[in-house]
Amino acid sequence: MNLMLRRPLIAGNWKMYKTVSEAVNTARELVGYAASASVDIMIAPPFTALASVAEIVSGTPVALGAQNLHWKDEGAYTGEISPVMLTDAGCQYVIIGHSERRQFFGETDDTVNAKIRAALAHKLIPVFCVGETEMQRESRETFSVLDKQMVKGLEGVPFNSESHLVVAYEPVWAIGTGKTATTDQIQEVHAFLRSLIDKRLDNPLAKSVRILYGGSVKPENASEIMNMPDVDGALVGGASLSAATFDRIIHF
Ligand code: PGA
Repeated sequence: MNLMLRRPLIAGNWKMYKTVSEAVNTARELVGYAASASVDIMIAPPFTALASVAEIVSGTPVALGAQNLHWKDEGAYTGEISPVMLTDAGCQYVIIGHSERRQFFGETDDTVNAKIRAALAHKLIPVFCVGETEMQRESRETFSVLDKQMVKGLEGVPFNSESHLVVAYEPVWAIGTGKTATTDQIQEVHAFLRSLIDKRLDNPLAKSVRILYGGSVKPENASEIMNMPDVDGALVGGASLSAATFDRIIHF
């Protein structure tokens, strides 16, 4: 982890968990723990809880993120949420291209690309997720799959001096399975992603991009993962749902 250039980010993806009152209670507890943390912290509650959680985290070290967005500002798109609505609700970050969206909801590299553009245009920080399936790893396609996801996801994206980007490497086989990638596997992929980012983006933007690891991160493995040289943080699912457990990760 390069502390000089990039302050680590620990992000909690709450997925489709928590009612409004549960989300507010967890966020309130987390704000208490977060005061003494030396990392950036973000939580991504479900859409229904964003506005209420925004009131709790506003002015605290905990930033708010959404789990998805549509790329249009508004329109006849039943069931979708726009970047304008997310910034209005208090979001600073948005998770884009999570493997569960790619797997179950038809997310493609093209929609991911449109969403990254829309997020940046509205000054939301994209948390751009990439990762290979178990079958792709076994057939030695990990690097070609990641290369394609990165190139297509960022194709023609107009970055400027104010743009921020977070990339999350989440091997699909490690999400919610309890199987964590080994630190060697994580470092190898993160170094590869770092080299792709250096090629695609201008310095100093490239240097500011944080690459998070996600997939069964928990208090027991957080510090080992966070100490790898090219790991700048973590995207945490299951272990972010309890503030006390997440606290042990943000204080790794
Ligand atoms: P997990 O999920 O920590 O429960 O494996 C990570 C994610 O999907 O972002």
